[in-house]
Amino acid sequence: MNRSWWKESVVYQIYPRSFQDSNGDGIGDLPGITSRVGHLKTLGVDVVWLSPVYRSPNDDNGYDISDYRDIMAEFGTLADFDTMLEALHRHGIKLMMDLVVNHSSDEHAWFRQARASRDNPYHDYYIWRAPADGGGPPNNWEAAFGGSAWEWNEATGEYYLHLFSKKQPDLNWENPRLRSEVYDLMHFWLGKGVDGFRMDVINMISKPYGPDGRLPDAPVVKPGFLQPAFGAVTNGPRLLEHLREMKREVLRHYDCITVGEAPCATTRQGMELTNEQGGALNMLFQFEHMELDSVPGHPWGKWGCKPFELRDLKASMTRWQDELVGRGWNSLYLSNHDQPRPVSRFGDDGAQRVVSAKMLATFLHGLQGTPYVYQGEELGMTNFPFRGPEDLRDIESINFWREAVDGRGEDRAAVLDAIRRKGRDNARTPMQWDATPNAGFTSGTPWIAVNPNHAEINVAAEYDDPDSVFQHYRRLIALRRSQPALVYGRYRPILAEHPQIYAWLRTLYDDRLLVVCNFTASPAEFRLPDELDVVRWPLLIANYAVDPAQDLRCFALRPYEARIHRLQ
Ligand code: GLC
Ligand code: CA
Repeated sequence: MNRSWWKESVVYQIYPRSFQDSNGDGIGDLPGITSRVGHLKTLGVDVVWLSPVYRSPNDDNGYDISDYRDIMAEFGTLADFDTMLEALHRHGIKLMMDLVVNHSSDEHAWFRQARASRDNPYHDYYIWRAPADGGGPPNNWEAAFGGSAWEWNEATGEYYLHLFSKKQPDLNWENPRLRSEVYDLMHFWLGKGVDGFRMDVINMISKPYGPDGRLPDAPVVKPGFLQPAFGAVTNGPRLLEHLREMKREVLRHYDCITVGEAPCATTRQGMELTNEQGGALNMLFQFEHMELDSVPGHPWGKWGCKPFELRDLKASMTRWQDELVGRGWNSLYLSNHDQPRPVSRFGDDGAQRVVSAKMLATFLHGLQGTPYVYQGEELGMTNFPFRGPEDLRDIESINFWREAVDGRGEDRAAVLDAIRRKGRDNARTPMQWDATPNAGFTSGTPWIAVNPNHAEINVAAEYDDPDSVFQHYRRLIALRRSQPALVYGRYRPILAEHPQIYAWLRTLYDDRLLVVCNFTASPAEFRLPDELDVVRWPLLIANYAVDPAQDLRCFALRPYEARIHRLQ
């Protein structure tokens, strides 16, 4: 396997609106990030992925871009950006920007032109269709944030496509002029010295046009409703072709890191898109493990919750580890700005918060791939106790509440429970820096409430506590740097059928590491398989004190216990 710096890196995601406010307006900003570079340095991460900071009317918090070459006024200026980039680079940290080019904002100059008339030169930058034969939207697609994926445009007498909100019209990648605009803006940022891109819903850019240019209906999974479009629009026929062109025109001219967000991606697509010969990207964010706690085909979509099963997690992770080895590269993540907090979702955010957050971290960093840490995850930050719709800020949760409660009269408590479990605002509450009233995030009124548990869970407290979640992340990141087997070692699961334990080996030449995680709140008996002959097992990291005299070949793991040993 080829060595590459992006395989050996740990990436830290910053959601700028919620990271650090510098001027008291309650909104995080670029000077705020610059002032916190020391935190990233202390943690030891190599790369920052910055969620969008471009000019935007903020219908979807920056994922609706109205100018790809300027900074959102609330976040600062291009000069502030350059200062931030320089500060990161001075500390040896690279910067990955968010590239949101499946859609733009409806306030982008392109769309203002495009919607004015059919013969406007920008009209073909977007996707337009006539009404269906009997009138109404051209097909049955439901937008990700609810309602039809088609919006009527009076001036041209057509519908335009928006897979997300109606303020996020989809760009037309069939148009070579649009594609070269995208490549130009990528050169603009790479030319400024940024080190790569995280590509938003990149596997949706090629739409599944029929021979007559029609966009076919999505399969019916919720009879009587609009149908989720994702299955129909991901991995379209020209996806690889477009990404190869992007590689040829842009990416191959820089030593950069790329990760494509790819909902619904299969391992096959993972191999196709990330292999170093014919592929185009370094890695994907796949979603299988993010769907293990949703009921498939539920009319509420992702909001139809069920408990996750360790068995399913093992099967899914193992498939991605096995199938991509030598043929592509994995990304590893448990959280980002779209997901609830992992300790609340897969661990225990009550009495066992600290050990279970450390277990989840050990699990993630013990696999093969590039780990991503989302702001606050390194503290073991938890979900937020939303009281009702007045606490919500995210368009997805707000629209779900409106449709379900106000529209269909569904049970308020059930809807609120789903939003508490799955809502994206859980990840977007301000970073908890200290125990002061606004957690050190702002001197003003924060745009979204600070979690009341910040008095206990915060950076300042965790810096001082050698047993904190933060210190465990720091040690894990340092461990990865010192152990090539953690980066490049081959993955082999053991005890595949164990209902509580997830354990595997990482082997590189004659080096063997063992990762063991108890995913439950009860003790679990671990037995090393007989065929593994070992005489010594030095401990590399653990989330409990470990008795050095204990026999690793058979012992009881404590609740949420996790360790990495070297086998000798
Ligand atoms: C991605 C982003 C998400 C956004 C959506 C539309 O999934 O991560 O935050 O809402 O794309 O851009
Ligand atoms: Ca601010």
